[in-house]
Amino acid sequence: MNIEDVKIYEYDVVVVGAGLAGLAAAKELTEAGKKTAVITKLHPLRSHSGAAQGGINAALSEDDSVELHMFDTVKGSDYLGDQDVIEMMCKGAPETIRWAERMGAAFSREKDGTIAIRPFGGQSKPRACYASDRTGLTMLQTIYEQADRAGIEVFDEWYAADLLYEDGKVKGIAAFNLRDSQPAIFNAKATIFATGGYGRAYKVNSNAHANTGDALSMVARKGLPLEDMEFVQFHPSGLGGSGILISEAARGEGAWLFNSEGERFMKKYAPNVQELASRDVVSRAIMQEVREGRGVGPNDDAVFMDLSHIDEEIILKKLPELRELAITFQGLDMLKEPILISATAHYSMGGIPVTKRCQVRKSPTELVEGFYAAGECSCISVHGANRLGANSLLEALFFGREAGKAILEDLDSLSFSKAKTKDAQTMIDEYNWVKNNNGDERVPALREELQNSMSNDAGVFRTEESLSRQIEKLGELYKRYKNIRIDDKSSTFNTDLQEAIELGHMLDFSLFIVKGGLERRESRGAHYRDDHTERDDANFLKHTFATLRDGYTIEQEYAEVVLGHFKPEARTY
Ligand code: FUM
Repeated sequence: MNIEDVKIYEYDVVVVGAGLAGLAAAKELTEAGKKTAVITKLHPLRSHSGAAQGGINAALSEDDSVELHMFDTVKGSDYLGDQDVIEMMCKGAPETIRWAERMGAAFSREKDGTIAIRPFGGQSKPRACYASDRTGLTMLQTIYEQADRAGIEVFDEWYAADLLYEDGKVKGIAAFNLRDSQPAIFNAKATIFATGGYGRAYKVNSNAHANTGDALSMVARKGLPLEDMEFVQFHPSGLGGSGILISEAARGEGAWLFNSEGERFMKKYAPNVQELASRDVVSRAIMQEVREGRGVGPNDDAVFMDLSHIDEEIILKKLPELRELAITFQGLDMLKEPILISATAHYSMGGIPVTKRCQVRKSPTELVEGFYAAGECSCISVHGANRLGANSLLEALFFGREAGKAILEDLDSLSFSKAKTKDAQTMIDEYNWVKNNNGDERVPALREELQNSMSNDAGVFRTEESLSRQIEKLGELYKRYKNIRIDDKSSTFNTDLQEAIELGHMLDFSLFIVKGGLERRESRGAHYRDDHTERDDANFLKHTFATLRDGYTIEQEYAEVVLGHFKPEARTY
């Protein structure tokens, strides 16, 4: 890859990522006449938003309220969620559903024609609006069709490789075309990152192969902070072995969990709501049963999920995809027999810190000019230490649209800083290094070691010892990464090369997860320390802001949580 080949494209706005958040922003901006480019390493319809199955929250029913939705979200977050943004999102939820409906989203319906809702964990009322068990896909298809109709310009199968950040301002990104390695700069007044999650750092996860956290690493390498990275959500029901998502909708429709002794064990951990406790509680309960020798399956590392008592028609109509998945991957038919499930890395509460207008923060008190983020890659802190199921599709659609609106307000006051081809040098150097480096380490082997060690030492249960061990391990993997070699030297769809670059990103953000977990000597939400089992509001009711220095050292500071009228109290289900 050569600097002379760099093309420069000029836009008002460049959006990186084409899931719900990115497309919602791009649609808003394009409809307002702003020249907007969407850069995505996949086709938009393959974005991971499409994998969300169970629902999207909004307080729609007569016996529900925005206030209750807010309370459940704050409690679910273990009081780390910022209550001002939680209020914004919960208040905006019913209108977001109407907006999706007006765009053509084919929600499932109750008999009276209203949008169907189902119960989800940690929620005091049924409020997950759904489209069978393909809610994310339905939303993604809908918003893509409408964004396409609005005329968005998509650069699909382009890999965003570097953030152009200088003097407190972002002027776009450097990217290359995966088809032929054409390098380019997308130069814009405003840039939005909406690249989704990064669960691939764990061995068992529900994430797509693409979820490698590139955006977080690009941000971190510029010395910008990441927030609350220690909070990684494990979804209770991944298919045993593969981790493929079996939606919480299964528990919402009435599934029961059993251990090897035939005990419906959730009654010990959440006596009031059992299987419908929040995700962190159920995941930990499953792993605790396994740890204490009551697991099932070929490796005794799963539990049974039983739906055989549920009306066949309900499963066939409301959970058809889940049934297919269990038949395909386990040969088990949930109509007749229990399936095997276990906790799977699913969602990341932390990310790129943003304000309620989705502007990226340079520190807890300063902003980066021209830079915005929305959806799972961002940390606006509506989920705090643990996200409620069905709040993610809501966050992505609601704040994706908000990001678009904020940029529309800001655009006239943002300066256009013209890019030069040399601004692509960092990307070019990295690309050429990966292609030509001639060491003896192989990327898949290093990735597997990363995933295994993250799962063992920075997973559902953590200790000082395990996290310290994982810091050491990451140091070793960083050193060995410098010594990689890839076989494919071509410029066309070079997935060998792409995966090597992605591994570098995974190492970077994993370091934030582990360091954040090590320094947070308490248990809160998804972060559970066997050696500090209690929540410690006196010392840790605060957000972590962490910054990468000298490639491997993490510096941390803390910022206040925005509290509101829900005062922190003991969290029981
Ligand atoms: O369980 C699920 O259907 C996942 C939904 C979510 O993560 O919000």
